[in-house]
Amino acid sequence: MANISEKLNEEYNIQVKEELESGYIYLAMSAWFAERTLNNLAAWFHKQAEEEFVHAMKFVNYILDTGGKVEYAELKKPKGDFNNILEILEAAYEHEKYITSRIHHLYEVANELKEYSAFPMLHWFLDEQIEEEEQTAALIDLYKGYVNDFNFDHHIKREE
Ligand SMILES: [Fe+2]
Ligand SMILES: [Fe+2]
Repeated sequence: MANISEKLNEEYNIQVKEELESGYIYLAMSAWFAERTLNNLAAWFHKQAEEEFVHAMKFVNYILDTGGKVEYAELKKPKGDFNNILEILEAAYEHEKYITSRIHHLYEVANELKEYSAFPMLHWFLDEQIEEEEQTAALIDLYKGYVNDFNFDHHIKREE
């Protein structure tokens, strides 16, 4: 018998898609920067995309470890055209806030079903989301202090 309920299994499969889509969104943002030779920002967003893949695999591994069923869904085409850097940074921030709301939802489902084994990993994601929101918000603040996009890009390199 599986150690994951059907309901949580279903929700985790949705979250796998959400994390992969996050990665896809950041890859599209990374390409936008790379096309404009804002290479440090391109690298920063590429790294975020890689992290999202790791997040997706955490949910996949939990499903597999508990004897559930992994189902990969179709990914939405990410937005690829933006007017400026701020638009991208704000979209990334809004997206992270959305993902945080998704983690809260998963936590509520696990709690309602008394699936306490799911808590440690979800706690990890709660912490991770605080960091993800914070670093994206910090980037927005930082950007607002720069008048030149290339100066900003250069600063990202020194931050790494
Ligand atoms: Fe994530
Ligand atoms: Fe994220």
